[in-house]
Amino acid sequence: MIIALTGQKGGVGKSTTAIGLAVAGLERGLRVLLVDADPQGTARTWGDVAAEAGHPTPTVIAMGATMHKPDQLPTLSKNYDLTIIDCPPRHGDVQRSALMVSHIAILPCGPSAADAWALTASLDVIAEARTMRETLQACVLITRKQSRTALGKGARDVLEASGLPVLSTELGYRVAYQEAIAAGQGPTGFSPRDNAASEIRTLLDELETLFHGKETSGCYLAQAAAS
Ligand SMILES: Nc1ncnc2c1ncn2[C@@H]1O[C@H](COP(=O)(O)OP(=O)(O)OP(=O)(O)O)[C@@H](O)[C@H]1O
Ligand SMILES: [Mg+2]
Repeated sequence: MIIALTGQKGGVGKSTTAIGLAVAGLERGLRVLLVDADPQGTARTWGDVAAEAGHPTPTVIAMGATMHKPDQLPTLSKNYDLTIIDCPPRHGDVQRSALMVSHIAILPCGPSAADAWALTASLDVIAEARTMRETLQACVLITRKQSRTALGKGARDVLEASGLPVLSTELGYRVAYQEAIAAGQGPTGFSPRDNAASEIRTLLDELETLFHGKETSGCYLAQAAAS
């Protein structure tokens, strides 16, 4: 299963979610490859911190706009059960390359109107990718949600009303996500009983279900993007 965390907007939780999923995969005994496709190098730096601290660390490698070439990620990912690509914001060619090899594209989106508007540009990239890769599944993940705010409560309605497929799992705004990354861990290892840990485990479950072709309540082929 190859999953890309992508989207045009910066700072929405792509790297945090990618790392959290990678660690959750390791805990399930999966062989995990974390591809850092962002020149900022968040995932690589985290990988160094994790390895130094002796925490479970996936294989972390840097790749760019040629990762879709047959001798690159398509070959390398065969040695892993779960490959997660952490994309940069606003790098069309890198995102395109990632989407050409991914089974599922996740578009993290914060619960604000500005976040939802920024998705439009990302959908164009996905629509284009699907002309070359029909089977690409794409869905929005609500992140950094603050349930008590009106914005948090209305996030799903706003996104679904705009015709976007939205994953059932939502990630709350939780300090554990931030602290885990700083400690070279994912939330499941850092604070296993925190809500952040259960959200990440549930997200991985939902993605596995989606990958194996079973229906889920929230996510389906990105018809909205293709049409
Ligand atoms: N669910 C969450 N709850 C609380 N804070 C979060 C959550 N997800 C991400 N953050 C915080 O938000 C900031 C941005 O997150 P992150 O680096 O994962 O975003 P990104 O989309 O990868 O950014 P960029 O586009 O710059 O690569 C970080 O400080 C991170 O700790
Ligand atoms: Mg990032």
